[in-house]
Amino acid sequence: MVMFKVSRVETTPYDGQKPGTSGLRKKVKVFIQPHYLQNFVQSTFNALSAEKVRGATLVVSGDGRYFSKDAIQIITKMAAANGVRRVWIGQNGLLSTPAVSAVIRERVGVDGSRATGAFILTASHNPGGPHEDFGIKYNMENGGPAPEGITDKIYENTKTIKEYLIAEDLSDVDISTTGVTSFSGPEGQFDVDVFDSASDYVKLMKSIFDFESIRKLLTSPKFTFCYDALHGVGGAYAKPIFVEELGAQERSLLNCTPKEDFGGGHPDPNLTYAKELVARMGLGKLDSESEPPEFGAAADGDADRNMILGKRFFVTPSDSVAIIAANAVEAIPYFSAGLKGVARSMPTSAALDVVAKHLNLKFFEVPTGWKFFGNLMDAGLCSVCGEESFGTGSDHIREKDGIWAVLAWLSILAHKNKGKLDGDKLVSVEDIVRQHWATYGRHYYTRYDYENVDAGAAKELMAHLVKLQSSLSEVNDIVKGIRSDVAKVVHADEFEYKDPVDGSISRHQGIRYLFEDGSRLVFRLSGTGSEGATIRLYIEQYEKDPLKTGRESQEALAPLVEVALKLAKLQEFTGRSAPTVIT
Ligand code: G6P
Ligand code: ZN
Repeated sequence: MVMFKVSRVETTPYDGQKPGTSGLRKKVKVFIQPHYLQNFVQSTFNALSAEKVRGATLVVSGDGRYFSKDAIQIITKMAAANGVRRVWIGQNGLLSTPAVSAVIRERVGVDGSRATGAFILTASHNPGGPHEDFGIKYNMENGGPAPEGITDKIYENTKTIKEYLIAEDLSDVDISTTGVTSFSGPEGQFDVDVFDSASDYVKLMKSIFDFESIRKLLTSPKFTFCYDALHGVGGAYAKPIFVEELGAQERSLLNCTPKEDFGGGHPDPNLTYAKELVARMGLGKLDSESEPPEFGAAADGDADRNMILGKRFFVTPSDSVAIIAANAVEAIPYFSAGLKGVARSMPTSAALDVVAKHLNLKFFEVPTGWKFFGNLMDAGLCSVCGEESFGTGSDHIREKDGIWAVLAWLSILAHKNKGKLDGDKLVSVEDIVRQHWATYGRHYYTRYDYENVDAGAAKELMAHLVKLQSSLSEVNDIVKGIRSDVAKVVHADEFEYKDPVDGSISRHQGIRYLFEDGSRLVFRLSGTGSEGATIRLYIEQYEKDPLKTGRESQEALAPLVEVALKLAKLQEFTGRSAPTVIT
């Protein structure tokens, strides 16, 4: 066994290492500064209790973006020096965020070991490459992101760090080949286990869904399918699952080779950035000539987000989680005993609320950020949850799960088409959504994003809205002056959440204006950007009348959009006349 020594390296703090909604995300040029990553990793070790470090088993992998391979070697050497017993690495350093969560919860090492936590190397849906973003976050033994108590501690540690430990002479491990390499350090043996990125995750998916019925759908000549991984890590799972297990054609996979720079694209599955898929599905400006597939889906860089599309049809993420919840018990074996409860983030539309009410399910509204669902799930209060930000998932893991969402939709399609696969016409994605609206009503929904706005201007805009909200009569005067055809504002506040499990309180989670007819305007600052500020404006209107649920959503929402923009004085504060992205 190769021996290694532990070195103590002197360092000084860097400003701004505060983890955001989902870990620390910065430009690569920031991360590659001397000791920058090391400071954050050591600060994380120092924030964890001793048994989570000494003798622990840590997963270290990510979406494969630029700088990941170097980061994996650095973290491995630091883990060895800090007394970690073993590091588990997905082959080539690749593990999707949901797969990391699955590996923590499910994988048993050759020696019977189980993981205690993970460093996930990703900046999610942000672009990658030498001039783009890198990111790192820590997940706990339940498979979910570290709670604020830990991330606050990490941040505090980054402000005072003086040294870090590293096994400088530990040779780089070949992460392209599976197998265990053992080393010997001052505290005993240290193993690096490189394993297949997909197999644990595939096994978990097979235990949740009825693969046989999905296979029948995917191999039916009537059904056509398309999955776009946007060159993210989703590609490492798409082939084993959709092609090898479920019989989809290989040509159904788009951009499924993971690339360090995501092919130069923006790996965010929405109507703006998933251009190729959108065109293929007949929803783009330059649509392809051929008939679009029946079903299309895309993932983000680390494959926890998803976008679901039907032929010439977009499913809003808020509708998607509501429809999955409404159909889960019949269509997905994992849920056959019933749902424990459902949850959504505050800015997500209330489509899920209506389903919960109909089905008499426990329901929770949490702040933006997947970690809030984790507590509910650990307490057995929530089975299915989702966010407007293209995140959907369940209590099978503690992260949102893009491929799970696709399999959930394929399960619903397979269920609705049982016995119909040889008929004239399949029940389509669009049929399922329209049927859902007819039963539950429709929540027209749109989100306007103003990316990379001056941070000061964004703050001022939010302060203006907070101030405004204190006087409803003033708000209503302004609203009436803008559009007389919009309902009255009956409540406005800054969303605050008390976690029902641990009692912790999260404040300043977005400003809400609630209207008499159930419409809502929500304003928030993004917590995931790496430059400037991103203002998000969420606009929603409920329509119960089945005869009126078929309108084009931008047209239906136009009056509310006008009110929102003028109320917030968006152009005045930001100088922007249009959003960067509309979803
Ligand atoms: C990440 C989190 C999600 C959250 C999203 C919000 O993807 O995992 O839970 O909804 O960020 O991003 P934002 O940019 O709106 O803060
Ligand atoms: Zn992501």
